[in-house]
Amino acid sequence: MSWLVQRSNSSKENGPGAATAEPVSHKRMEPPVESSQSVSDAFAEAKYRIHERLLKEMDLDKVQQKQGPELRKAVEDAAAMMLTSLEMPISRSERQRLAREVADEILGLGPLEPLLADPTITEIMVNGPREVYVERNGLLYLTDAVFRDEAHIMRIIDRIVSPLGRRIDESSPMVDARLPDGSRVNAVIPPLAVDSPTVTIRRFSKDPLTVEKLIEFGTLTPELATFLKACVEARINMVVAGGTGSGKTTLLNILSGFIPARERIVTIEDPCELQLRQPHVVRLETRPANIEGKGEVTQRQLVKNALRMRPDRIIVGEVRTGEAFDMLQAMNTGHDGSLTTAHANTPRDALSRIENMVLMANLELPVRAIREQIASAINMIVQVARLRDGSRRVTHVTEVVGMEGEMITLQDIFLFRQQGVNQQGRVIGALMPTGLRPRCIDRFEQEGIFLPPDLFAMRPLNGHAAMRR
Ligand SMILES: Nc1ncnc2c1ncn2[C@@H]1O[C@H](COP(=O)(O)OP(=O)(O)OP(=O)(O)O)[C@@H](O)[C@H]1O
Ligand SMILES: [Mg+2]
Repeated sequence: MSWLVQRSNSSKENGPGAATAEPVSHKRMEPPVESSQSVSDAFAEAKYRIHERLLKEMDLDKVQQKQGPELRKAVEDAAAMMLTSLEMPISRSERQRLAREVADEILGLGPLEPLLADPTITEIMVNGPREVYVERNGLLYLTDAVFRDEAHIMRIIDRIVSPLGRRIDESSPMVDARLPDGSRVNAVIPPLAVDSPTVTIRRFSKDPLTVEKLIEFGTLTPELATFLKACVEARINMVVAGGTGSGKTTLLNILSGFIPARERIVTIEDPCELQLRQPHVVRLETRPANIEGKGEVTQRQLVKNALRMRPDRIIVGEVRTGEAFDMLQAMNTGHDGSLTTAHANTPRDALSRIENMVLMANLELPVRAIREQIASAINMIVQVARLRDGSRRVTHVTEVVGMEGEMITLQDIFLFRQQGVNQQGRVIGALMPTGLRPRCIDRFEQEGIFLPPDLFAMRPLNGHAAMRR
């Protein structure tokens, strides 16, 4: 991480930076009682003063030669020494915490650092100086992390985006960026964010979830995993549909993992998130416009370009707009086995959204023609959802069968059947075959893929212990 001491802005945070372990709560935590408030004010004040003094007095040339843990130790030691000179009555553990927090402020992302260091946190959401939420296991928790004020949040946003040559200000008040570890960051500032600058960080995991983990979590059943693997191997065109944060990209990553190693894969993302293990992968990433508003490269341009790259498979991280048309065309013109995701709440909703995306491409095609193209391009929709208890589940596996009149016809092959909620609030239910035999089975057989005949057989709900969690 770059050395940021030269910035004239300093932070003035007060309060501890660790996440609480309290369960879901959207309510503000109880305010601290009077005495602890004054202790924490004194702590914050001391921290502020040390931070300011360090910025002014630290021997930059000497410190800048250090890196990593050595650099951090040098800053912490300097902070601890200055604290001694303040002659403030403070316990050993508070002294350590103060030195740590000053170093977080100088070297890192301030109050966000302890949250970033916690591997159980999958998302960090800053709504305002005293409203920092995290997500763990699909549930939201309010944390104790606090920023001194809105300007402090702004400084942290700036610290994230400026090394990337991006800026955030009134004329460009929204920005997407990435942390050095690959985590995805979105920031929106006033006037668009009405109450405070906001930051959302989607943590990047170096070890993406595996198919075995998804089976363990109850997102997939072993039967469904077998079926999805067969679909990918048989080059079925698939769309993973789901709401925000429902697990679309994670499932897409798993599906992509089923692509045989001999194939040439081109991925198109905005931003890159997939982590494919195959040897022959070309990754393309969109580019936002620069500060002068120039140089933007869209997903649509990249999909068109990918067609000239002799791909065996094209994977688009998420279709959002006009590129849906080019993706459908690719699927319809011999690039079978393409995979993508779309933001939608049901398989039918996914189709209508894709229809709208094609309309956005401004090709003036009649709706019926668009639907025909969708129906012949897309073979299977896998719907994921985050349920009330925070768990992510596949809720539908739906085959696109064809057209009847103006309507695209669908048939569900697997459905999540919810039975209720247990005493711990966990959703009880199972993902079950509907009993319908997918039409694409014929294609599997042509490819030499033979699935157990009872894979799609309907069975009683309680006969499916693997999924009752
Ligand atoms: N099946 C799952 N079980 C548990 N956690 C999961 C599962 N799938 C995804 N997650 C976690 O949920 C978070 C969101 O996952 P992911 O990025 O795949 O969702 P998404 O639908 O693509 O989100 P977005 O709408 O922001 O693109 C990640 O932290 C991921 O690790
Ligand atoms: Mg995603």
